[in-house]
Amino acid sequence: MPVAIDDIKSLLAYYQALGFDHLPLAAGETGSCRTGVDTGQQGRLFELREYIGDCRRCKLSGHRKKIVFGAGSPCAKLMFIGEAPGKEEDMQGLPFVGDAGMLLTKLIVKMGMNREDVYIANIVKCRPPMNRDPEDDEIAACRGFVEQQISIIRPRVIMTLGRIALQALMGDPKLKITSSRGHFFDFGGIPVMPTFHPAYLLRNPQDKVLTWSDAQKAIARLGMPPGR
Ligand code: URA
Repeated sequence: MPVAIDDIKSLLAYYQALGFDHLPLAAGETGSCRTGVDTGQQGRLFELREYIGDCRRCKLSGHRKKIVFGAGSPCAKLMFIGEAPGKEEDMQGLPFVGDAGMLLTKLIVKMGMNREDVYIANIVKCRPPMNRDPEDDEIAACRGFVEQQISIIRPRVIMTLGRIALQALMGDPKLKITSSRGHFFDFGGIPVMPTFHPAYLLRNPQDKVLTWSDAQKAIARLGMPPGR
C-alpha cells in the first residue's frame, strides 16, 4: 500500500520538532555538508539524537520545553560549544537563536562563514531554570553527548563560549576564562580556542575585540583567510 502524504508530513514534523533540519543521508552523499564530504556524520548524529530520546537523565528535564540538540553542518570544520539553552532556545529547540545567538551569528559571518557551515552545540541540552548555571550532576549527565557530537563531526577547531563550556569540556573547574581565552587547549587532538560567551559580550561590548582576536587564531588554524 502506498505511504500516505499525510504520514510523511507528520513524520517530517516529528523530526523537525526533534531539532533536525536535514534528513539523514547515506554514507558518501554530500547533500548535507556544504563545506565537506558527509561520510555518514548526519546519520550518526541522527542516531545519537534518537538515543537521547525524550531524555529524563537529569533534573533539567522537568523544566524544559524542548531539548536543544545542536545545529549546523555535520562535517563542519569549526564547532562552537556554549553552556546551555536559554529561554528562546528552549522554545525553538535550536541553539543560540536569542540575542546572544544573533551576536554569535555576526561573529561567524565576520569569520567568513555562515551558520550552516559550522556546528553549534551546548554542554547541556536542556535549559536550566531562570538561566542559572548548570550544576555538576547536570553537566555529568549530558557531557557525554557533546563528546559524541565532537567525535562524529571531528571538527578541525572547537571554540568554547564562556567559562562553563571551557571548564566542562576540559574537565577542569579551576580554569578561568580571562586567562584561558586566546590560548589553544587540546581535546583529543582537536585544538580548542576558548573565548567569551556572547551574552557576556552583550553586557561588555568593549571585550568584543578580544573575542575577535581569539576568532582570528581559530581562522588561522583552519588555514582560512583572516575574515572580514
Ligand atoms: N547560551 C548558550 O550557552 N547556549 C545557547 O544555546 C544560547 C545561549
